[in-house]
Amino acid sequence: MSVAKKKYKRITTKSLVEMKANGEKISMLTAYDYTMAKIVDGAGIDVILVGDSASNVMAGHETTLPITLNEMIYHASSVVRAVERSLVVVDLPFGSYQSDPKEALRSAIRIMKESGGHSIKVEGGKEIKESIKRILNAGIPVMGHLGLTPQSIYKFGTYTVRAKEEEEAEKLLEDALMLERLGCFALVLEKVPAALAERVAKSITIPVIGIGAGGGVDGQVLVTHDMLGMTHEFNPRFLRRYLDLYSEMTSAFKNYIADVKSKDFPSEKEQY
Ligand code: KIV
Repeated sequence: MSVAKKKYKRITTKSLVEMKANGEKISMLTAYDYTMAKIVDGAGIDVILVGDSASNVMAGHETTLPITLNEMIYHASSVVRAVERSLVVVDLPFGSYQSDPKEALRSAIRIMKESGGHSIKVEGGKEIKESIKRILNAGIPVMGHLGLTPQSIYKFGTYTVRAKEEEEAEKLLEDALMLERLGCFALVLEKVPAALAERVAKSITIPVIGIGAGGGVDGQVLVTHDMLGMTHEFNPRFLRRYLDLYSEMTSAFKNYIADVKSKDFPSEKEQY
């Protein structure tokens, strides 16, 4: 059992900051539904992210842009019903916070009130400073997200590593310092060079949780369906697969089909 699982009955934003101060790495995975969240929470994960990656993983969209606030609330409330210990972070979807701070606050309040989530996550730095301030002023904990921010995919044009050049790296560091100053409780860094991610993590006291950002940060996050090997066509270098569920499930489905066709299922013991 990890130190955190023994020490914390319920993970809060404060526990995460404490974990960083104590040098304990933070574990975070995504979940979008009750059953998955129950397993992930029961296994002892520190943070469950109801990511807008639900747009890809659950709905089959090419990007995270189409998912709506109502859909995020549906996913988040299913997750919250399952969770006993983890901190639940919910992504504010594209279009629900970028246009003005009042709308951002309204969206964040809807997430908190209607899903019961414990905090929200937004993508971006200086450009959304006023929205972040407004949400924080209402007492809603905010997790930042810098580096590759998938909601801006049409600006970037590709999903390749961000901030390899000095200018972008400096802006990222400034944004991270700003997020800490504003009062964000943590920060996701996605697909940036490991050395830069480590530099950011060492420059701020709030935890930096990486995805494709190397081991020098304070915690790691993966999309659960990816680490379980369900999305077998997705193969980024940073992904470690803990199962090959795509093959396992395919073979289970094939066996079931064969059993139904051959009349082997149901047997006498499997009927009333
Ligand atoms: O939506 C998501 O799953 C995320 C993670 C990749 C960090 O934002």
